Amino acid sequence: MSQPTRRILVTSALPYANGPIHIGHLVEYIQTDIWVRFQKMRGHECHYLCADDAHGTPIMLRAEQDGVSPEQLIEQVWQEHRADFTDFLVEFDNYYSTHSPENRHYAELIYRRLNESGHISQRVITQAYDPEKLMFLPDRFIKGECPRCGAADQYGDSCEVCGATYSPTDLKNPRSVVSGATPILKESLHFFFKLGDFEAMLATWIASGSIQTQMANKLNEWFTAGLQEWDISRDAPYWGFEIPDAPGKYFYVWLDAPIGYMASFQNYCDRTGLNFDDFWNPDSSAEVVHFIGKDIAYFHILFWPAMLTGADFRKPTAVHCHGFLTVDGQKMSKSRGTFIKARTYLNHLRPEYLRYYFASKLSDGIDDLDLNFDDFLQRVNSDLVGKVVNIASRCASFITRRFNGQLADSVAEPVLYAEFVVASDSIAQAYEQREFGRAMREIMALADRANQYIDEKKPWALAKQTGAVTEVQAVCSMGLNLFRLLALYLKPVLPGVAAEVEQFLQIPPLCWDDIAKPMRNHVIAEFKPLMQRVEMAQIAAVVEDSKEQSSASEEAVGPLADDPISPTITIEDFAKVDLRIARIVKAEAVAGADKLVRLELDLGGETRQVFAGIKSAYAPEDLPGRLTVMVANLAPRKMRFGVSEGMVLAAGGGGGIYLLSPDSGAEPGMRVK
Ligand code: MSP
Ligand code: ZN
Repeated sequence: MSQPTRRILVTSALPYANGPIHIGHLVEYIQTDIWVRFQKMRGHECHYLCADDAHGTPIMLRAEQDGVSPEQLIEQVWQEHRADFTDFLVEFDNYYSTHSPENRHYAELIYRRLNESGHISQRVITQAYDPEKLMFLPDRFIKGECPRCGAADQYGDSCEVCGATYSPTDLKNPRSVVSGATPILKESLHFFFKLGDFEAMLATWIASGSIQTQMANKLNEWFTAGLQEWDISRDAPYWGFEIPDAPGKYFYVWLDAPIGYMASFQNYCDRTGLNFDDFWNPDSSAEVVHFIGKDIAYFHILFWPAMLTGADFRKPTAVHCHGFLTVDGQKMSKSRGTFIKARTYLNHLRPEYLRYYFASKLSDGIDDLDLNFDDFLQRVNSDLVGKVVNIASRCASFITRRFNGQLADSVAEPVLYAEFVVASDSIAQAYEQREFGRAMREIMALADRANQYIDEKKPWALAKQTGAVTEVQAVCSMGLNLFRLLALYLKPVLPGVAAEVEQFLQIPPLCWDDIAKPMRNHVIAEFKPLMQRVEMAQIAAVVEDSKEQSSASEEAVGPLADDPISPTITIEDFAKVDLRIARIVKAEAVAGADKLVRLELDLGGETRQVFAGIKSAYAPEDLPGRLTVMVANLAPRKMRFGVSEGMVLAAGGGGGIYLLSPDSGAEPGMRVK
């Protein structure tokens, strides 16, 4: 099992300093933390670095809104983020901030080197400008009507209704989100990073297997589309670092954000005596491994390696992308109570439940991953409580009560123990490859095997027999030795439980090298319950606490959210639709069509045949005599069963179909307008 010690610097993406950590973020930090803990347990030198991403317009404006300085805002958020991570057992070796002297140093250094090597260009561009607030507006700070479908209240870069992407100057009736003013166009000198200079290098880097295949494919699409120069400057007022020798020009937040990985590492080196260059020199043999969400891949697999190369630093060894979290199959939503903050979760539930749940669903892929509450409850209760913890509780009390905590002096079933040892290679490989779901399945198969062993031996029955004392001790010791291995294998995922197990078994911190060393003739402490079952009520409480009244503009639920209002039409458009009151004179099922009812409609002199998809909501025999509304001038349509000469009006969409009826007094043939 001994292997050369690797030196690995690992990072997670730096969370923005203007909002709380939520369970979506945690997919990433938990995934990375598990991988890091695994490497450490294997005896590798592994350093886990992170920081808050503290610059940019949103943070500047948010501070202004809260009536604090940006420094105060980012300090407060930094404290909150740290507490959230600590309580989720995400153990960074250093958690820093991009608003730091080290980051300023490296941002300036990298920029200077890129500039000296000719990788920076300058040109004047035209951009939206808020004439009241006197600032250039990022796309997200301009709203207006979609140029394609006309939907109101759309952002400057894309339409959430029709999916169109465009530039803010295309919006109709644009306004600044900051002041409400109509943006004007204004020219300004910008600095660009010439990404195209690095195309060949990037192609080689990708081919070397540094990123997942799915991402490599994505990257090829970007290559085909052509690598654009990247705009790395922003004009004052901006919250960030001023560009050297360019007064009033600032580094765009995404320029100094990844450099924050280095800054955090430098800060860590200064604290611990580690050597920065060992990890960042172009010829470094250490590994630099980034974990990120797929939304920020462009920055990490194009700009970042290019910037590093251009500034004479090493490139990342690997960039691992993961998918996005959905809750019960949908995007996290404040009004549904599924936009769950780390803190809200922690107020009701133990962090390790979520760590285990995510682990059981994570793989090397970039597909989205769903948190389904029923599944969550079921997996945690049946796997962790029902299988793993159960083994200890079944064995421990006999050892404590009958044998003063003393375990047997030999392993009763060496073959079974060896089975558990052999499994370690495959489990380790799964952890290494970030196939955590597979690792969890293999560990749970071992847990089943251990329970099966105890079921067969029945220590509770043996304990009642005379002359079986030694056997009770042997079986329970065996059970606890298997339990120890399960705790070891799960330790990257469940570090808190593992610490309690170490305490209970009175053993030093479990690491991978301990696998083949069973406990013999060893005294354990008294067993205390290691983990409670999750109750649905706890989950319900998390959801309840997460529900926020949606402000009208923020987020709607119900029909409008699922099916937004269509683009505006003129009165002339509407007048083209001839709506008339009609009486249903005849209604019958249509053979061969489950959903359709054939209606004969009296329009006050004229009769029409209409096929209506209302069978699921109305029995044909209930319909004759009813008044309803129909579109009378719809072009006839030939269907398999006959010609449909119009359309009746009904409300529907989500649940059910509701035929429209006029108030009493209306007569067939009357116009509806
Ligand atoms: N500040 C940038 C990253 C700079 S890295 C040099 C940023 N911050 S973020 O707070 O928006 O996101 C931090 C990380 O969390 C990103 O990797 C992002 O993909 C991830 N996630 C944010 N929401 C997520 C989900 N709902 N699901 C999974 N990951 C999510 O991006
Ligand atoms: Zn649109």
